[in-house]
Amino acid sequence: MAHRIAVIAGDGIGTEVMPEGIRALEVAAKRFKIDLAFTTFEFGSCDYYLEHGKMLPDDWFDQLKDFDALFYGAVGWPDKVPDHISLWGSLLQFRRQFDQYINLRPCKLMPGIKSPLAGREPGDIDFYVVRENTEGEYSSVGGKMFEGTEREIVLQETVMSRVGVDRVLKYAFDLAQTRPRKKLTSATKSNGISITMPYWDERVAEMAKHYPEIAVDKFHIDILTANFVLHPDWFDVVVGSNLFGDILSDLGPACTGTIGIAPSANINPEGKFPSLFEPVHGSAPDIAGKGIANPIGQIWSGAMMLEHLGYKEAADAMVTAIEEVLSEGSRQVLTRDVGGQGSTVSLGQAIAERIGG
Ligand code: NAD
Ligand code: IPM
Ligand code: MN
Repeated sequence: MAHRIAVIAGDGIGTEVMPEGIRALEVAAKRFKIDLAFTTFEFGSCDYYLEHGKMLPDDWFDQLKDFDALFYGAVGWPDKVPDHISLWGSLLQFRRQFDQYINLRPCKLMPGIKSPLAGREPGDIDFYVVRENTEGEYSSVGGKMFEGTEREIVLQETVMSRVGVDRVLKYAFDLAQTRPRKKLTSATKSNGISITMPYWDERVAEMAKHYPEIAVDKFHIDILTANFVLHPDWFDVVVGSNLFGDILSDLGPACTGTIGIAPSANINPEGKFPSLFEPVHGSAPDIAGKGIANPIGQIWSGAMMLEHLGYKEAADAMVTAIEEVLSEGSRQVLTRDVGGQGSTVSLGQAIAERIGG
């Protein structure tokens, strides 16, 4: 039976890296005899918004809910549509309505890429950020009062539910359990954010009791960002709230040379709803239309999707192909963010050929 994949390219470089993600997946599917059926949707982009006055059709949930996975590019074009409208109208709806409460973001220094951190080699940076993906600071609880007056007030509450916190912590502890170092770091800010963050710490301490073999530590987010730069080798699995996880999952990949290679999986672990796979980066208006975006974030996200669908061997082959092409270091093939002068297509093609075996 074919695995049905909904494809939404979105905006900007999303439309440029998506074809390379699909090319790589098609080659992997052929080699490993996996039946993938792609269906492309135009909605979820700012152009769709300009035409229809909304980011998604009213029946988007029913249109997408029976797919096995969603493969997303990037969304947002602030000159056309304010970001909070385009993002709350699409990506954030998928995460919330499909209960994709885990955002799993690997962060790995790849062979052939120079880290901006002096002296760091592949192996020194290899960790996961596990980001809570449906609540926390990204809440719709709040509002404006006395708008337009001197007394104007804006308010947006952080929401932490016990179920919401515990389920992301459990996922992170389970992941740490599968890793050789068995280490978990919690991102907190319980010195300053005096209600929600001490609660987060409490739940971490409670969960840790069920995992005696995991070494647990915690850092306030301010020093944690510093430690990502100074001591990236300390980290194995890092778990954080929605906002902290967001920040750490751009900083981590930056420490590995470029955010252009970073993948992510927005997962509904129970499989009740489809999970969504997308690069960490956005639509990059500054380089869109030039054909120079790095497609690896999209391709690696495709590998995470195959692993999620049960094809670990195929996923590993995709990541190995990425590593091989990077370590060969051809300037004609690689994109500029990783020191080359090639294009989205040259890099995508080289990886696809390598996946073919
Ligand atoms: P961005 O990730 O789009 O770009 C940040 C910087 O990284 C830019 O200089 C860009 O050129 C570079 N970059 C990003 N991806 C790259 C790639 N694949 N190859 C080479 N360089 C790359 O972040 P931003 O500028 O803050 O946001 C632009 C738009 O994207 C906004 O509308 C924002 O809301 C949206 N956004 C969407 C997502 C998403 O869909 N998941 C994620 C982040 C930002
Ligand atoms: C990400 C993005 C989104 C987020 C934005 C575009 C809403 O930055 O996927 O990391 O903050 O979650
Ligand atoms: Mn982000």
